[in-house]
Amino acid sequence: MEKTKIPAHVGIIMDGNGRWANLRGKNRSYGHRAGTANVERITEHAFNSGVKTLSLYAFSSENWARPKTEVDELMRLLGLYFKKFLKKMQREKIRVAVMGDISALSEKLQQVIAKSVDATKANDRGILNIGVNYGGRQEVVYAVNKLIESNQPITVENISANLYSAEFGEPDLIIRTGGELRLSNFMLYQGAYAELYFTDVLWPDFNEAEFDKAIEEYGHRHRRFGKVQ
Ligand code: FPP
Repeated sequence: MEKTKIPAHVGIIMDGNGRWANLRGKNRSYGHRAGTANVERITEHAFNSGVKTLSLYAFSSENWARPKTEVDELMRLLGLYFKKFLKKMQREKIRVAVMGDISALSEKLQQVIAKSVDATKANDRGILNIGVNYGGRQEVVYAVNKLIESNQPITVENISANLYSAEFGEPDLIIRTGGELRLSNFMLYQGAYAELYFTDVLWPDFNEAEFDKAIEEYGHRHRRFGKVQ
């Protein structure tokens, strides 16, 4: 059997935690806790499958508008996640990176994140790039401002080179769980030629087999990057 082509860089919009919890008569935070547990499962599976970079949308620039209890729970989970998975990332030789404006987070959370990023920076088996207070439009504005400050011309290449996640390149495949058919401000610029995969499966239910389905579907896509053939 022909071996499936594995995308080097996969982005995931992890949607559906709230509905998953509501279906079980629980509050949205319960769904986010299940969603966090699933981050561990899918991260491990993605790197074992040969993915080199995994970019996850954990908290968007727009998520601050959610009720305070929910925002607080997401922040608490992020703190726990970065602490708890640090050992595992070390063992698995995965480098942890963050894209987004983390200056808006509490000092404590910023420190926890900085510690994970710093402690894993020499790891070379894969990159786990987490979007925290991340917005694709904001990222372009950030890049353009950097170019203006350093007096460089505003070109496609220069903007690409100054995005938060510049060194991780462009996603080959963007997966969105939870049934909505949109990008919601995720990797807009670098995702220009990403293959898109949408599934109705809610994030906490998006298991290894569902991930494999997305990879399988990617294997059948014919990427042309705007060219003919
Ligand atoms: C969308 O579900 C999900 C989020 C806004 C947050 C995603 C966060 C996690 C999976 C947990 C934290 C992540 C890490 C890396 C620790 P939703 O609440 O919009 O669900 P709904 O569309 O059903 O309401």
